[in-house]
Amino acid sequence: NIVQREYLVNGKLLTWDGPLNEVKSPVFVKESDGLKQRVLGSTPLLTENESLQALDAAVKAYDLGHGAWPTMSVAARIAHVQTFLKKMKEKRDEVVNLLMWEIGKNLKDSQKEFDRTCDYMHDTIEGLKELDRKSSSFEVEQGIIGQIRRVPLGVALCMGPYNYPLNETFTTLIPALIMGNTVVFKPAKFGVLLIKPLLEAFKDSFPPGVINIIYGRGRDTVGALMASGKIDVLAFIGTNKGANDLKRLHPKPHRLRSVLGLDAKNPGIVLKDADIDVAVDECIAGSLSFNGQRCTALKLIFVHSSIVDEFNKKFVAKVSELKAGLPWEDGVSLTPLPEPGKVDYLKDLVEDAGNHGASIINEGGGESNETFFFPAVLYPVNSKMKVYNEEQFGPVVPIVPFDDEKEAINYVVNSNFGQQLSIFSQDSKSIGRMVDLFANQVGRININAQCQRGPDTFPFNGRKDSAEGTLSVSDALRAFSIRIIVAAKYN
Ligand code: G3H
Repeated sequence: NIVQREYLVNGKLLTWDGPLNEVKSPVFVKESDGLKQRVLGSTPLLTENESLQALDAAVKAYDLGHGAWPTMSVAARIAHVQTFLKKMKEKRDEVVNLLMWEIGKNLKDSQKEFDRTCDYMHDTIEGLKELDRKSSSFEVEQGIIGQIRRVPLGVALCMGPYNYPLNETFTTLIPALIMGNTVVFKPAKFGVLLIKPLLEAFKDSFPPGVINIIYGRGRDTVGALMASGKIDVLAFIGTNKGANDLKRLHPKPHRLRSVLGLDAKNPGIVLKDADIDVAVDECIAGSLSFNGQRCTALKLIFVHSSIVDEFNKKFVAKVSELKAGLPWEDGVSLTPLPEPGKVDYLKDLVEDAGNHGASIINEGGGESNETFFFPAVLYPVNSKMKVYNEEQFGPVVPIVPFDDEKEAINYVVNSNFGQQLSIFSQDSKSIGRMVDLFANQVGRININAQCQRGPDTFPFNGRKDSAEGTLSVSDALRAFSIRIIVAAKYN
């Protein structure tokens, strides 16, 4: 039971003696009186006061003057991040263990999340060296010499999602820091304890006030930060509702830059000439890795009617091979779900689909307990069903048969979301036609492959309501900075 009372403000780990938030695992354990949901520990429920102190520290650290964080040389800032990275690597086992217990991510994927985050930091350092070489240039025009500089934006508020509480948080936090911004960081709601092993490393690696870490309910903490008008960048990965609620509080929205990763409902489109085995394998990984709890997951699969029976047969056979269990068990991919109420929500989606004519076509599909839900493959799904329209963010796979590809195209064109999609076909002409059409609709088109964010050096964004700004390595460095000019007449 990890009782965490520390939070980080102005380079000091302060101790909170107020109320705490209980952190529960989605994993149930056997106790003398039966199966019990494991309580992992607790984190501070800070108030507006402590949050505003954190903000004050970030504002002061930004405004300290020459030689302070925002004006420090790039090499010096990189050295601070390298120090942090080295210390963080020493905490791998602890963080990986907490990823498994807190969000139910299996061992392999938890290790991958940690290692990928370290690689991302390394790539970001290299990316900054390159950007710095390109960005600091001189331009001479009309008797004026202009020195172009890339500079930070100010104070960033960084908040990540529960499904990648380490990795996706760091994809905004690290570029924000390394570009010279100062930061207030509030960890995700689940996957919150896993930041504790890193608190000392943050404290010891950065100058006071550069990174401040707060805990608590959003309404008691970050609301006041946004309302202060002193947040210059909102880096948020979560829902549109969450992002809009925060943005709305800022008194001068034109002074706020937003870097947002939001809702998505990525479709897979399996055309009649697809290699069915490839499509099945990619759609399994795309829809069910980490139980479908990825913003990039395939959340609706359109399959041409002429091949849908074969696709379904092969798809459900593969689902039956997936092993359910606890995150640390060998070869397990289906694990407990951390969000309270999620199982009931998924059951409701299945029931609604059933009421509109779809069935579960896989054996054991939809079997559940308090925090576990065995994948339900639904067929035939149509646009009247909730599961066609809502982002399930869980192990329910809706399969939509189509005769005319216009049905799939219309779905993409009319959707409020535009993160990614996957096209499965062996015909280069069909692929080319669809790519041209969809290039104006989504941020990434995957051909004969699932949707995904990586490689992390690729731009990661979305159209419509799926994102604001672009992440990755080099894009994120740009997202957390601005080019300014120092101009002088030279004759
Ligand atoms: O949840 C959203 C993540 O950006 C997905 O990342 O495609 O690497 O799993 P991923």
